[in-house]
Amino acid sequence: MTEQTGDGELTTTEAMRVATRRLAQDGSETPRLDAEVLLRHTLDLDRTEVFLRAEQPLGRNHAAAFFALVERRIAGQPVAYLTGFREFMSLPFHVNQEVLIPRPETEVLVEWALGWLAGHPHATVVDVGTGSGAIAISLAAHMGPGWRGQIIAADVSVGALAVAARNRTTLLPPERQDRVRMVRGSLLEWSGGSVDLVLANLPYLTPEQMAANPALAAEPALALDGGGDGLTLMRALVADLPRVLSITGAAGMEVDPGQIAPLAKLISRAMPDASLQVLPDLAGLARHAVLTRTNGGRRLA
Ligand SMILES: C[S@@+](CC[C@H](N)C(=O)[O-])C[C@H]1O[C@@H](n2cnc3c(N)ncnc32)[C@H](O)[C@@H]1O
Repeated sequence: MTEQTGDGELTTTEAMRVATRRLAQDGSETPRLDAEVLLRHTLDLDRTEVFLRAEQPLGRNHAAAFFALVERRIAGQPVAYLTGFREFMSLPFHVNQEVLIPRPETEVLVEWALGWLAGHPHATVVDVGTGSGAIAISLAAHMGPGWRGQIIAADVSVGALAVAARNRTTLLPPERQDRVRMVRGSLLEWSGGSVDLVLANLPYLTPEQMAANPALAAEPALALDGGGDGLTLMRALVADLPRVLSITGAAGMEVDPGQIAPLAKLISRAMPDASLQVLPDLAGLARHAVLTRTNGGRRLA
C-alpha cells in the first residue's frame, strides 16, 4: 500500500481518485466502478450519500478498510465476492466463493421462463445447477401471487445450496419461500419425472477457455468446467430430458454461443418431437436453447 493510501485525512473524493488509479494500473477493466462499489460497501452508504460527503475526510479506519479491499481486488478477487453481493433480476443475491457470480446474460433465460410459467400456473420447475439460486429464486420472486407451482433448486455442491438457502430466506417474503425447495443431486438423476420446466445454466467452459481467462480462477471450477468440449454435462442432461419432462414440458439451457449448433443436434436426436428456439443474449450472441414438447416439429431460429 502506498504512503498516500494510508492517510486518514484523504477526503472521500481523493480516496476514490487514488484507488481508481491503483486499480487502473493493476489490471481492472472497470477501475472507477470497482472503486465506487467498494467505497459504498465500506461506508455502507448509497451513491447519493457518498456523493454528499465527497469533500469530507474518509477517516483512518474507513480508509484502511477501503484500501484493503482495493488490494484484494488487485490480487484477483471479484468485487462481488468482496462485497458479498451481486444484483440479478433486480434482487441483491448474496454470493461467496462457493458459487458462480450470476451473469447478466442469464437474465434472458429467466425472462423467457417467466413468460412460459405465466401460462402454466401449477408447473413443477427444476433449476439444474442452481448455484446462488439466481434462477430459481428470481422466478419465485417475480411470478405473481396467483402462481401455484413448485421450483426445485438442485446442485451437487453443498456450499452452493447453503448460499441458495440463505438467498431464499433473505430475498423472498415468507409466503413465497415454500415455492423453492433445495435438492442435492447430480443433474436430474434424483428426479422421478413429470417435470414441466427444466432450466439449466450448467458449467460449459472448455479447459482452453478457462486457461485463457485467469480472472475466472477466483470462481469455483465446479461451476465453470464443462469438460473437453464444454458439453459433457449438457450431453448427459439432454439425454435424460425425455424421461424427466412431462409430455407438454419445456426446457431452457444456457451455453457458449459456439456450442449452440452441437447442442441443437443433441436435442433433436434425443427429442425429435420438440420445437427448438435459440435466444440471443444481451450482446446479440446465440446463448440459450429453449425447447417445448409440442409435437409441433422442430424450429431453429
Ligand atoms: C455455471 S454455475 C450456474 C449457477 C447459477 N445457476 C447461475 O446461473 O448463476 C453451474 C452450477 O452447476 C453446479 N453443478 C456442477 N456439476 C453439476 C452436476 N453434475 N449436477 C448439478 N449441478 C452441478 C455447480 O455447482 C454450479 O453451482
